[in-house]
Amino acid sequence: MDLDRMLAQCRRDQWNVSDLDWSGKPRPMSREEEEQVVQLFTDMAGIERLASALFREQERRVEEPRLKEIFRTFIRDEIRHAQAAQMLADYYDVHHYRHYQESKSLREFAPVFVAAIHHLSDDVANAYVVTGELLLDIALLRSIDDHVGDAMSGAAMRLINRDESRHIAIDYHMCAYYASDEYEEKLQKQTAPSLSERAQAARTFSQMLYYAQPFIRDVFLKPMEKLDPRGRRLREAFKRSQLLGMKERSSRRPFTRFTRALQVGFEHPVLKPVLGNVFVRLSGVGPDFLARLYSEEELARARRMSYEALADEALGAKTEN
Ligand SMILES: [Fe+2]
Ligand SMILES: [Fe+2]
Repeated sequence: MDLDRMLAQCRRDQWNVSDLDWSGKPRPMSREEEEQVVQLFTDMAGIERLASALFREQERRVEEPRLKEIFRTFIRDEIRHAQAAQMLADYYDVHHYRHYQESKSLREFAPVFVAAIHHLSDDVANAYVVTGELLLDIALLRSIDDHVGDAMSGAAMRLINRDESRHIAIDYHMCAYYASDEYEEKLQKQTAPSLSERAQAARTFSQMLYYAQPFIRDVFLKPMEKLDPRGRRLREAFKRSQLLGMKERSSRRPFTRFTRALQVGFEHPVLKPVLGNVFVRLSGVGPDFLARLYSEEELARARRMSYEALADEALGAKTEN
């Protein structure tokens, strides 16, 4: 990837929420619909703020000065998305039917997630960030916009999506880097974390898993039941994340080992009924999305493709069907 070009693009494509024209009127909605839309945008604001915290973490981990600078622009992007989402919530809150606040499960999950990510190894942290962006970017955001079906939301989402395209491109670029020999060599030179560091990492991680399930259920799966009744987009996003985890033939990196072990365990005919719930809990997602979602052909194809081409394809999924 040409990092100079990417950085120039990051700087050039900055925008402000005030660039949007907020003077229009929302389309008429029933009470139920208005409440749902305002709640969706209220939660979206929280998710975008969480995304900014994750990019702060990514920025801390990289040494390459241009990458550092790129991640700094991503932090700004996500804060702007949070502002835009909050303004969309207020825009659609025409009747003030009730007081809206972020879902409890999101409020509880966000700080423990950030803490857990802080203690994870670089590649595992990156895998969580990529998966989060695929879910938010491809599945949730698009479905919210389709569901709202209104010009104001459409205009804001277009600008947000332009930023998200850069995020996905860099997320995949980081996946490639963490799978590289260069990174492997760097790891060899690092000192292993101390026992107390590892204990803290394990503690924050198990805390995160505890709060992940209600969060994923309330903020992703439940709204998506209405927005994407057959779960096609969610499945698509999870599939892309799984393919990324399986892309390298060798599973030397911990995240790849972790996701592979989970999937194998889940598909095992005897282990599945016994350990099914444990696996669901460990991975933080529902059983439908843990099963293997890709075919052998799709895996072979993904392995032949470059990370860049995979990122392009993930982005393409935003505009097709
Ligand atoms: Fe965002
Ligand atoms: Fe993003």
